[in-house]
Amino acid sequence: MIYREKIKGKLAIGQELLYLSMQDVIDTGITVDEIIDLTEKAMIAYSTKKAEMPAKIGLHPQPDSLMHAMPAYLPEEMACGIKWGSNFPTNRERFPELTPTNCQIIYNDHESGLPLAFLDATWITEVRTPAVTLVAAKYLANRDATTFGMFGCGIQGKAHVKMIEHVLPKLETIYVFDVFEKAMDALIEQCQPHVNAKIVKASSYEQVAKSCEVIASAIPIHHHPHPMVKTEWISKGQTLITCDCHSVYEDGVYKKADIYTVDSEEQHRLLETYGYYPWGLPTIYAETGLVAAGDKPGRTSSEQLIVSNNVGMAVEDIIIARKVFDHALEREIGLKLPLWNKTR
Ligand SMILES: NC(=O)c1ccc[n+]([C@@H]2O[C@H](COP(=O)([O-])OP(=O)(O)OC[C@H]3O[C@@H](n4cnc5c(N)ncnc54)[C@H](O)[C@@H]3O)[C@@H](O)[C@H]2O)c1
Repeated sequence: MIYREKIKGKLAIGQELLYLSMQDVIDTGITVDEIIDLTEKAMIAYSTKKAEMPAKIGLHPQPDSLMHAMPAYLPEEMACGIKWGSNFPTNRERFPELTPTNCQIIYNDHESGLPLAFLDATWITEVRTPAVTLVAAKYLANRDATTFGMFGCGIQGKAHVKMIEHVLPKLETIYVFDVFEKAMDALIEQCQPHVNAKIVKASSYEQVAKSCEVIASAIPIHHHPHPMVKTEWISKGQTLITCDCHSVYEDGVYKKADIYTVDSEEQHRLLETYGYYPWGLPTIYAETGLVAAGDKPGRTSSEQLIVSNNVGMAVEDIIIARKVFDHALEREIGLKLPLWNKTR
């Protein structure tokens, strides 16, 4: 109730809501370190059953497009709301002025259910997704890795490359690969000033697969995957972290992995029923959040081949939405909009 009273001092709950544009969200000043910490907290809360989060349901208005409804409630954080997130890969060709991934959050008062804020979540998604990869890398990768690979040089590729040194501080070389040369050039131009490691444009999937100790991937998810990375290119000791399901690696890679983790077992079982894993889901060792919680060991030997497949969870968005909302109220950022236009 103390938290609610604090909100009521700044916002008339039930009569108005706070509208935050993407720029407002960024202007709250939430830091990358806060985002990584909150993301880890959310993954642990989910996997230790301290959060309510049903598997996301979706619509698919265009081929290979998705729109996901993602509600979550984290009681300990008093954070409650829903993200409505979309990925339309063909926006790049059909609507060049629009990005493929676009998301909004309705952030709710967990005491009354009323909306407190409507905020852009496109940037939140952009940064919390690599934060999940970072949490996975923290517990599953060889932390002294000197090489990192990135498949896909779009929004996610860039955000991953900018953030990865937070958990892999000894990186010397980052290999990036994309089917579009221009995307690789743009990533290098935008990211090189922010990272210490040298970013190298790879010439093939094979070069990245064979050169990197830790590899992340963020390419479009196709309803039926056509993996490009061959099983024999992948070796013991590597850590492969995907936020694009099984889009990149042949099924044999998952079969030979010593450990396979997912962010939400329920979520991935549901995706399997949608046909995203035509060769079946590999044996799940644990949820990534359970490893972060210390309930299951992470990497125990530098020789293990580890794959972590994280599709994104609403708990991550909603825990960050609370911090953004708190900062916005404190710093008087955003636009207050009326909720009702007459007293009922
Ligand atoms: N797991 C999550 O929480 C989460 C969150 C956001 C996005 N995603 C997923 O990440 C992926 C990328 O999202 P984005 O916003 O960066 O999209 P984007 O369109 O900005 O970037 C995708 C990049 O992949 C490249 N690409 C396309 N096909 C490729 C291929 N076969 N091999 C290599 N590169 C290829 C494109 O040229 C583009 O540069 C999508 O599948 C999206 O659904 C996952």
